[in-house]
Amino acid sequence: MYDVYAVRKDFPVLKEVVYLDNTATTQTPIPVVETMIDYFYRYAGNYGRGAHRLARETTNHYEDAREIVASFLNAEPLNTVFTKNTTEGINLIANSYPWEVGDHIVTTLLEHHSNLLPWMRLQKKGVNITVINPDNKGKIDSYLLENAFTEKTKLLAITQVSNVFGSVQDVKGMTKIAHRNNIKVLIDGAQSAGHMPVDLKDIGCDFFATSGHKGLLGSQGTGVLYVKEPDVLESASVGGGTVSDVSESTYTLEPSPACFEAGTPNIPGVIGLGRAVEYVEKIGISKIKKHEMNLSREAAKKLSELEHVEVYGPENSLGIVPFNVKGLNAHDVALILDQTKQICVRSGYHCAIPITRFLKVDGTVRASFALYNTIEEMDILVKAVSELKALVS
Ligand code: ALA
Repeated sequence: MYDVYAVRKDFPVLKEVVYLDNTATTQTPIPVVETMIDYFYRYAGNYGRGAHRLARETTNHYEDAREIVASFLNAEPLNTVFTKNTTEGINLIANSYPWEVGDHIVTTLLEHHSNLLPWMRLQKKGVNITVINPDNKGKIDSYLLENAFTEKTKLLAITQVSNVFGSVQDVKGMTKIAHRNNIKVLIDGAQSAGHMPVDLKDIGCDFFATSGHKGLLGSQGTGVLYVKEPDVLESASVGGGTVSDVSESTYTLEPSPACFEAGTPNIPGVIGLGRAVEYVEKIGISKIKKHEMNLSREAAKKLSELEHVEVYGPENSLGIVPFNVKGLNAHDVALILDQTKQICVRSGYHCAIPITRFLKVDGTVRASFALYNTIEEMDILVKAVSELKALVS
């Protein structure tokens, strides 16, 4: 294992609060913040657009970050596009793929709105969608997926780790099944990258979108989109930075990834993301996974022992514990935990209304763990929730 108490020194806010809302965003470590400050103070220029020294240094650092991130996910830099978050990555695919009337997409009820709404919207263009239900622990049966495929199915869009349950899908197995049926696969990796090993060549998927500000410990406003075959797409967003030539009436796009990165990107964020990925790699992704799973397993076990608490999700959740205190509104519980014990958890629908309603509840309280959380913090949460019994009996 690694020394979690040493790691915590890089996250000053952890002295003030018990931070358990890591699924929404993690905290950013000091070395990453310093990397971004270094850009602003020492060499800020635009990326890929100038011959002077600051523009050159900026471009070099930006491309170094691309190599670091690509290598971490076992991808190539030319397949690795920087975006502003997972949502933007998924929308880019939805808006850039050459859909035809009658095409069919299979997705699941487990999805975050960001991996559901872009496909729903395509229905206006004559694309049909089928939404598969998970079981009540957040697992998708591959057999149901395969049954949903038709000759018209072009895409399977599925989350690797549910942001509501922490359940992990066998995306490699699902990709194999989809490819056997000539169907492309998009994986929402918002809650997997940085929390568990992700090897894109091994998984074999066609598209993978993630955010920089969650498991990867980067800044908000950064994301990564992997595109296995860039030529399949025609970028929906064009402009500065995407073209090699423009005449009065037409233009020639740059090859990937430049053709997908229109306009000045979040340069300090991307350079910081490269440093953040190095930080995660140094600790070790398998160790992080083990640590987070231990915390969520213990938290779920101890919370389940409380009569006034209902816990959802699988035993082997990847760091996420959704629960409710019977008779109390989820937002009220979150507010009480914050105001009485400085515990930060998310409450409500978690940008996933369909799956939360599937549980027949109006929302849940969600504790989510990151590499810097401790067993003591988990105990503080359980004790605070146990004390809420006084409010319900
Ligand atoms: N998708 C993030 C969450 O689940 C914001 O909290």
